[in-house]
Amino acid sequence: METVYGKYRDGLVRTLEDLTKRIEGYNKENIEAGNEPLYYHLITRIKSEESMTAKLDARGLAHTPEEALSGSVHDACGIRIVCCFIKDIYENISRIRNLPGVKVIREKDYLTNAKPNGYRSYHMIISVEEPYEDAKGNTPGIWYAEIQLRTIAMDSWAALEHQMKYKKTVSDNDLIVAELRRCADELAACDVSMQTISDMINNQ
Ligand code: GTP
Ligand code: MG
Repeated sequence: METVYGKYRDGLVRTLEDLTKRIEGYNKENIEAGNEPLYYHLITRIKSEESMTAKLDARGLAHTPEEALSGSVHDACGIRIVCCFIKDIYENISRIRNLPGVKVIREKDYLTNAKPNGYRSYHMIISVEEPYEDAKGNTPGIWYAEIQLRTIAMDSWAALEHQMKYKKTVSDNDLIVAELRRCADELAACDVSMQTISDMINNQ
């Protein structure tokens, strides 16, 4: 089988582990200082070779580690941070931005600019300096990750909407799209109310 990550797979896996540990680290420190957790849960994934190959094909790029890891594709490493409250999302963004060696390459604010289908999340593409040789041959290497931050409500919505893309529903499709949009807006309103209640409880 073709391996698009080649000998860089190890560095890729370790980069994701390192980043994850640093995020878990600031959260742990924050809890030890007597504060509420900064997120509810965190999941990570390495993009499968199949998905990466398909993405390179879609962009007309060669199946090489350099294109997959050091070119225009930046989501071989993926981290999703799911938070209870909207303010926690912004706190995590600020903590991530301040991690030494981390640079924010691109951000997509689907929190204030929801996608037309109702999708909400904050996406950061970051680069991070790591001791592992990168696909351009530099050591320390520059590695990339896509970090998605959302509330629990946004996360369950995205999971449901994702199911729709894989099921080729022919009938009721317009109704499902409209109902998803309505749910997304209702959930967003609830997230704002929950934040307000949380502020009232904690600022007493
Ligand atoms: P890709 O990474 O190729 O998807 O390119 P892009 O530049 O359009 O990225 P974007 O930041 O918009 O989306 C990246 C990832 O966010 C996707 O792979 C999904 O995990 C998630 N995402 C974006 N839009 C949606 C959406 O409408 N519904 C769901 N369920 N997830 C989405
Ligand atoms: Mg993607």
